[in-house]
Amino acid sequence: MDKLVINGGVKLVGEVEVSRAKNAYLPILAGVLLSDQKIELVDVPNLRDIRTMWQLLNNLGVKTEVVGNITHVDASNVTSQEATYELVKTMRASIFVLGPLLSRFKRAKVSLPGGCAIGTRPIDLHLKNLEKMGAKIVMQNGYVEATCDQLIGTKLVLDFPSVGATENLLMAGVFAKGVTTIGNAALEPEIDDLAHFLQSMGVEIEGIGTKTLKVTGLEKLKPTRYRAIGDRIEAGTYLMAGLITGGDVKVRGFNPAHLANVTDKLREMGATINELPDGLHAISNGELKGIDATTEPFPGFPTDLQAQMMALMTQATGTSVMTENIFENRFMHVPELVRLGASIKLKGNSAIVKGPSKFAGAPVMCTDLRASAALVLAALASSGTTDVLRVYHLDRGYEKLDEKLMGLGARIERARENEMI
Ligand code: UD1
Repeated sequence: MDKLVINGGVKLVGEVEVSRAKNAYLPILAGVLLSDQKIELVDVPNLRDIRTMWQLLNNLGVKTEVVGNITHVDASNVTSQEATYELVKTMRASIFVLGPLLSRFKRAKVSLPGGCAIGTRPIDLHLKNLEKMGAKIVMQNGYVEATCDQLIGTKLVLDFPSVGATENLLMAGVFAKGVTTIGNAALEPEIDDLAHFLQSMGVEIEGIGTKTLKVTGLEKLKPTRYRAIGDRIEAGTYLMAGLITGGDVKVRGFNPAHLANVTDKLREMGATINELPDGLHAISNGELKGIDATTEPFPGFPTDLQAQMMALMTQATGTSVMTENIFENRFMHVPELVRLGASIKLKGNSAIVKGPSKFAGAPVMCTDLRASAALVLAALASSGTTDVLRVYHLDRGYEKLDEKLMGLGARIERARENEMI
């Protein structure tokens, strides 16, 4: 197992380019199951979650070949419609294969994902709405088995704008008979991206970027070449990394509008944030001020940047309150930040952060993907050496995070955990 040994206290300065978004490519990869035509995907990031999704697809009979930065995909000969527990347990996004498999093959069997580090994360909205489209769903031996004669376009309204449910239902609608309307759809940019990918294969979709998506079922798709959007969460992480060190960082390769709420919050804290055509430029003005932030569905503050923002709040003067409204148990970074020297009290779904705290290096443990990023940020702000253990969580979702931060001047070494402790 790897760890990162971080010597903090260096101002990060320079430019960094984000990878294509993991959370855009995960549903797009599942979406390739819809097509018997050639698909070329450009700049798919090399991440653990993405590799797990490829493995899942390969097990179902999808052929892939990487040439340079293009992944050639051939899903013309899918031989199985079953996603087994071994893979699903390591990555909840496996549930995305349910909609496309059911739409194309009228059958899908997917292991139930179960809980994860940040809460129970049910899939009731996915299942309930697929049933409304005519699927028969049976839960047996830890698996969801869905069958249908033909999915039927239906007017659906989500009880909550779930990102995953919106994506699954959008894909289910591709070969449904007639028009599938998804009301109260989530607005996250990764959903627009999936819709644009489907459009590039000939699917008619109305209402992209709004709360009501309408997909018209069809019979045959066309070949496509597609490149997903830049990773807004990775971008936000680097902007905050720059600011937590009092630095000056340009982050490129993404649409700055996707971080509008985060930009507002960083400005409220006292940072200068300038828009670039393909990203954002964050400049520290010395002291940061404490603020309040609440996670909400897009365009609100993203839950996937909550932990990193909390790390930044520990270095701001005054009291900050971070409220988590999306997931029930997403404060696992708090005890680790406290170990480094942060003053954070939990009250219900809010964390009250008093800053600024001086961090002295200490070993800390990653618990989930975004919590790990928060610990890296805290380590960058620390005066000593911090060992960030179990970085495999980070490697799930950040491509070359250590190398990219080193490009900005950070002092980071990747080592085997047991070699140095
Ligand atoms: C996606 C992102 C994840 C991000 C989250 C919220 C991917 C691969 N993951 O996850 O990084 O943190 O959006 O922006 O894109 N819920 C239900 N029933 C359901 C589905 C969801 O109750 O059937 C609840 C969840 O438990 C959670 C909330 O709705 O409390 C939001 O979940 P959802 O938007 O579905 O997130 P994911 O798609 O799982």
